[in-house]
Amino acid sequence: MGLINSRICHSVLILILLASLCSFSDCYDPLDPNGNVTVTFDILQWTVDGYVARVTIQNYYQYRHVDKPGWQLGWTWTKNEVIWSMNGAFATQQGDCSTFTSQIPHSCKIDPVIVDLLPDAANENKSSDSCHGGLLSAWAINPLQSFSSFEITVGHLEGNTTGYIPLNLTLMAPGPGYTCGQLEDTDPTVSSVIGGRRQEQVFRTWKSSCTYSSYLANKAPVCCVSYSTFYNPIITSCPQCICCRSSNPNPMSCIGKGNPVTQSDLASKPDIVQCTDHMCPLRVHWHLKNNYKDQWRVKLTISNYNYGKSYSDWNVVVQHPGFSQSPITYSFNSTVLPTVGITDEVALFWGLEHYNSQLLTADEKQPGSVTTEVLLEKDSKSFTLRNGWAFPKRIYFNGDNCEMPLPDTFPMLPNGSLSQKPTHHHFILLFLIILTLKTLLV
Ligand SMILES: *[C@@H]1O[C@H](CO)[C@@H](O)[C@H](O)[C@H]1NC(C)=O
Ligand SMILES: *[C@@H]1O[C@H](CO)[C@@H](O)[C@H](O)[C@H]1NC(C)=O
Ligand SMILES: *[C@@H]1O[C@H](CO)[C@@H](O)[C@H](O)[C@H]1NC(C)=O
Ligand SMILES: *[C@@H]1O[C@H](CO)[C@@H](O)[C@H](O)[C@H]1NC(C)=O
Ligand SMILES: *[C@@H]1O[C@H](CO)[C@@H](O)[C@H](O)[C@H]1NC(C)=O
Ligand SMILES: *[C@@H]1O[C@H](CO)[C@@H](O)[C@H](O)[C@H]1NC(C)=O
Repeated sequence: MGLINSRICHSVLILILLASLCSFSDCYDPLDPNGNVTVTFDILQWTVDGYVARVTIQNYYQYRHVDKPGWQLGWTWTKNEVIWSMNGAFATQQGDCSTFTSQIPHSCKIDPVIVDLLPDAANENKSSDSCHGGLLSAWAINPLQSFSSFEITVGHLEGNTTGYIPLNLTLMAPGPGYTCGQLEDTDPTVSSVIGGRRQEQVFRTWKSSCTYSSYLANKAPVCCVSYSTFYNPIITSCPQCICCRSSNPNPMSCIGKGNPVTQSDLASKPDIVQCTDHMCPLRVHWHLKNNYKDQWRVKLTISNYNYGKSYSDWNVVVQHPGFSQSPITYSFNSTVLPTVGITDEVALFWGLEHYNSQLLTADEKQPGSVTTEVLLEKDSKSFTLRNGWAFPKRIYFNGDNCEMPLPDTFPMLPNGSLSQKPTHHHFILLFLIILTLKTLLV
């Protein structure tokens, strides 16, 4: 009990420390310091009473994607603008258009909220980069699907003007957590045409960037990390997810393993999970499997204890000093991310399409899971099994921080340095011992 208390205290202390380090403006992710979602309004042409603009939402986050149900972009018009029509997206509310008689605008709201069309939308409403249901891939995983754009025809502008910059941009992607700066006039966007031999530019460009803060999103921790090794049967258990965040309005509810989960359970509580001692919806397990002469091998497993929630296009970020050479990953896709200002390397893992890019829900018998082995090159200068070097410093699931075990719970090396040696030497030693025994016995 004392141990648990001290651990909770520890976590609370860390939380307080982080919260105090982290004001709204400078709270960024050290593993992706330049990550942001950039929103661009490009004015393409003037109309009698306004303009036509292309609005682009570009996700520059390396490993934070926009998941179902997709992004929602909102702003406030400065004057009495209306949206006459839209292509590739739509405003969720038409608002009060009662003063219009001949032509009825698409939306008369002073603060419209725009969402993406679904992939099955009628063709005439599509624009080239729209209709993904508001989903955006992470930049490091699939840059070609990391943006979406739509066109709006804005009118009813007062006076002789080249447009008024919309105010108070808001982005839900999905759900809260993003803060957007004011849209600002920037250099007009230039694009190449005729095979790059001519450059064309739009009339005006307004830009803003939106950044994510997990403190604003105020989510309960969703995942935890556990460790095991070939040299010690002890498994370092996952830290708990339930404690600490008192602001979480719905304490997690769970159903014991082996008990049937009914549709009505799922309907009343979509976040229902399998009961575990950690009560986290997700667990990332790092098993140190082999220690070879020049390489070492890890088995990485991600388990989903949610009964009602699967994760498509999941990704996992691992910060570890051993990724200086690209790891060989057998059943996941992976890449090593560029980093600045941190000494470790950071690897990003995600599922293979049509194979394990979907992390399924748990069923009565077992959690949903995806797993791979990872083969890492050894750097003889830094590699060691001592002092927890072989365990990751930090792990994220879909960009959210996972609860890490404390160093005092790591699996200990057994006494004697035998297991410190690569298996290679191990075998030779064993061989020598057998040889000696044999000669002694003969
Ligand atoms: C947003 O991300 C892009 C790409 O990483 C970067 O060039 C730009 O400076 C970022 N914007 C802000 C305001 O950080
Ligand atoms: C889609 O196209 C139809 C027909 O052109 C039009 O009536 C409708 O308003 C369009 N929807 C949006 C969201 O622009
Ligand atoms: C790994 O991801 C890259 C980038 O998205 C992709 O081009 C490649 O086809 C993927 N590899 C496999 C085996 O799926
Ligand atoms: C609009 O403004 C431009 C430049 O400011 C001016 O040349 C033009 O005559 C104005 N048009 C009207 C209708 O006021
Ligand atoms: C924009 O947001 C600020 C702060 O939330 C608010 O004071 C202001 O009234 C808003 N402006 C508009 C035009 O809604
Ligand atoms: C390792 O050695 C220390 C002191 O020499 C002893 O206290 C401890 O119990 C030993 N541990 C194991 C696992 O044998």
